Amino acid sequence: MQKPGRIIIQTDETQRERQIAPGLWVTRRSFVALCGAGIAAGAFASSAAEIAEPSKQGFEAFLDAANATAARLLDDPSAAGQDRYLRTMSAHTAAIGRVPIPETWRDSGQSDGPGTYIGFNPGGVGFVILHWRMEPGTRILPHAHTYGNVVTVGLEGWVRVRNYEVEGERDYTSDEGFTVRNTVDQILTPGATNLVSLERDYIHGFDAGDEGGRGLDITTRVLPKPDYGVPYLELGEMASSRGPDRRFSARWRRA
Ligand SMILES: [Fe+2]
Repeated sequence: MQKPGRIIIQTDETQRERQIAPGLWVTRRSFVALCGAGIAAGAFASSAAEIAEPSKQGFEAFLDAANATAARLLDDPSAAGQDRYLRTMSAHTAAIGRVPIPETWRDSGQSDGPGTYIGFNPGGVGFVILHWRMEPGTRILPHAHTYGNVVTVGLEGWVRVRNYEVEGERDYTSDEGFTVRNTVDQILTPGATNLVSLERDYIHGFDAGDEGGRGLDITTRVLPKPDYGVPYLELGEMASSRGPDRRFSARWRRA
């Protein structure tokens, strides 16, 4: 007979009960009972959580999940560690819902003219949520990320995002020319993401479509900020092309 306040999973009433969690009892020696206990424990925990605190949704839920990921995965700056972190953060954005519109905006400072703006959404711990918007036809000039990685999320309209990597050795302090490979060429629509690791696709630039666009840059500092900051990429002639695999001559232009 079930005791008050307890959940009992029992397949054979002749066996002794065993408590595996507060209020949760199972019989020994029963695989079925243990499987059931797992399901029941999950259901119990879930229903208890729902009673104690309504489950969060949308942006609030995203913040909780992203903050938990940052606490767990931020200590590995290797290429694989950044891939793991960025892909996990990207997955959390799948149900991001409606993101609050910032009250204040400033010029992005990363364009060749007016019409690109940056705001801020608070709530990230260990990372910063920048909210951007671009008027139709505007550009964010291609620039290298040298100390912070990024998950870009489309929220409204569309922008063309292109990522590049340097061929061979990277030297952000050099005035010499070099070759870059266009590794990603993407139309970023609402809900889509684009990832910038310090080791992969680490140069990016944006071109807004004819409706303009709006989205987030979830930016996480991985290294101390270097003296050369964020160099811009000046693209020259196409150096080679084999179908979509395109390389360009390039050089750095420091802001
Ligand atoms: Fe950027």
